[in-house]
Amino acid sequence: MTDGTSGGERRTSLHGFWSSRFTFILAVTGAAVGLGNIWKFPYIAGQNGGGAFVLVYLLCVFGIGLPIMMSEILIGRRGRRNPIATMQLLGEEESGSRAWGLVGVMGVMGGFLILSYYSVIAGWTMAYVVKALSGAFAGASPEALSDQLDGLRGSVLQSGFWHTLFMGITVSLVALGVERGLERAVTFMVPALVVIMLILLGYSVTSGQFGAGLEFMFQPDFSRLTGDSILAAMGQAFFTLSVGMGSVMAYGAYLPQETSITRTSIAVVSADTAIAILAGMVIFPIILSNGLDPTQAGMGLIFKTLPLAFGTMTGGVVFGPLFFLLLGFAALTSAISLMEPAVAWVVERWHISRASAAITVGSVVYILGFATVLSFNVLSGFTFWQGTLFADIDYLTANIMLPLGGLFITVFAGWVMCRNSTADELDEHAGPTYRIWRFLAQYIAPAAVVVVFLNSIGVFD
Ligand code: PFF
Repeated sequence: MTDGTSGGERRTSLHGFWSSRFTFILAVTGAAVGLGNIWKFPYIAGQNGGGAFVLVYLLCVFGIGLPIMMSEILIGRRGRRNPIATMQLLGEEESGSRAWGLVGVMGVMGGFLILSYYSVIAGWTMAYVVKALSGAFAGASPEALSDQLDGLRGSVLQSGFWHTLFMGITVSLVALGVERGLERAVTFMVPALVVIMLILLGYSVTSGQFGAGLEFMFQPDFSRLTGDSILAAMGQAFFTLSVGMGSVMAYGAYLPQETSITRTSIAVVSADTAIAILAGMVIFPIILSNGLDPTQAGMGLIFKTLPLAFGTMTGGVVFGPLFFLLLGFAALTSAISLMEPAVAWVVERWHISRASAAITVGSVVYILGFATVLSFNVLSGFTFWQGTLFADIDYLTANIMLPLGGLFITVFAGWVMCRNSTADELDEHAGPTYRIWRFLAQYIAPAAVVVVFLNSIGVFD
């Protein structure tokens, strides 16, 4: 652990520091890479027609997500507190208003809501490890695989059991403190996941529909782009990078002063994008070669499609369980980051131990999670706004709360914080990278979020 400071008057973290820049990259990459890349990206891209969606998604990731990630880290490091306290503190320092703390409050609430459903889906990946091990995929037809998923999510007991297990593991890890366990898990997990994906890529290359899969993903058909699909692309960019809700801000608070925020952010964003694209390159050819329609597959996609591949490929009995296990790990490192803002806040606010804070936060999230568990069985017919309760929570968080949080964060970093403060953190006063960041943070990112919002409610139609 370093002391993380270089100047005498700087604040210091209350929860320790990352031991190196590399560790921080791993932690933020662990937070970023998760179900969003492998489960959500392919099915949302599929639902929104592929190519054009992917293009908008990439523009959002690099043009909006990257500058916001830099803003979030720099705010976090400057404040060195939990996201609520940091926003209050810097708000007061930079503009005389503590009301900026509300941005942190929204982030903490967003984390609760996202984690509540994230845990349920992550629970399914654990259930799939067991299914894969028991040979349930061997030679199974698409219909049989679809029934398997429906059996799992249709049962309150089964789905609830795996949700309980996943939340239990997440809470234990957060309670123990993340430094050793998590840093090690991530060091192993991210490379291993990439290796498995490459092996699957080998399978999908030989599936006979590789070209068609690539075409679906990369050939833009702009007639398919609606206001809502552009909003979905932007929401997915925020979700996949974990920006807009304070997770990255909380992690930034533990970042040693000398680490370059720019280079770190670029590394994380590139790794995250690479994994999502890789997932698409694996999944779409397999869907097409089985005569399925990627635009109709929906959120059950990876649970129905990849098992098809595992059921027929050589070594599928080994790669199947391993794949879902690693996906579970990827989800775990994201889940931990989803809890961090709330846990850090509870610890700082009520001066209770990290373990008690983790159990308190975890319990609330756990109970909320049953809204999602029940969305696939007892309450599946109950539609309120976008669909089931799960669909509502997903839409509200990814498409509204994260972009809104990101908007406030970038406006705060670009306009409210004085130039000296941000230049100081980015440590590149007049350099071109600083100027590019400031331009994106001041103009492009806020304008893009506003335009996408307006477009999705039909203002430009
Ligand atoms: N980025 C994670 C994923 O792609 O699965 C999900 C996530 C984690 C979103 C942490 C938001 C967050 F704060």
